[in-house]
Amino acid sequence: LDLFEAIMERRSVRSYQGRPIPVGDLEKLVKAAHWAPSAGNINPRHFVTVTEPKTVEAIKALSPGMFGGPAAVIVLCSDRAKAEKRASSNGYIYSIMDVSMSAQNLLLAAHALEIGACVVRSFHAKAVGSLLGCPEHVVPELLVALGYPQGNLGQGIRPPLEDLSHNERWRQEGSSHE
Ligand SMILES: Cc1cc2nc3c(=O)[nH]c(=O)nc-3n(C[C@H](O)[C@H](O)[C@H](O)COP(=O)(O)O)c2cc1C
Repeated sequence: LDLFEAIMERRSVRSYQGRPIPVGDLEKLVKAAHWAPSAGNINPRHFVTVTEPKTVEAIKALSPGMFGGPAAVIVLCSDRAKAEKRASSNGYIYSIMDVSMSAQNLLLAAHALEIGACVVRSFHAKAVGSLLGCPEHVVPELLVALGYPQGNLGQGIRPPLEDLSHNERWRQEGSSHE
């Protein structure tokens, strides 16, 4: 699969077939997440893969932003203790950026394996952390719900790129992009 095509075709998938995802494929997704860039190469992140249906359901019950019945959830966590050891006082912000980079790698890898995925931020992080037995300093930041897509992927919607893309410098209001 061509990378540019994967970037353009990938859509958030919120409706899933019941079929489980092979363990080897879930491991590939975690590996893709792990190999995302990390500020200072500190890697203050952990990945918890959940396939046990009862635990997936319990996570869903704590996640107003999760839809459908995913076959698996990968919980992307920041490690605050590691993040705060950075020289910069913004260590925690960097760790969230690191987790976001991991999430995008994971979404593209899932698309390449024809696995549907949706990143979820609307969930009760503290409750999910204690459900999974995460230590205090490990904070769930994003969930990725996973399952084979039910139905077609939707059309992507984005605002016109011309409104958002600037060449060399910020263009003035009313100026043409040509
Ligand atoms: C930081 C972040 C948080 C998100 N949280 C949720 C969420 O809680 N629930 C959800 O269904 N989608 C969530 N999404 C997915 C977006 O709604 C989705 O990416 C957007 O609508 C564009 O659609 P597309 O991914 O299909 O291109 C989130 C995306 C990002 C980047």
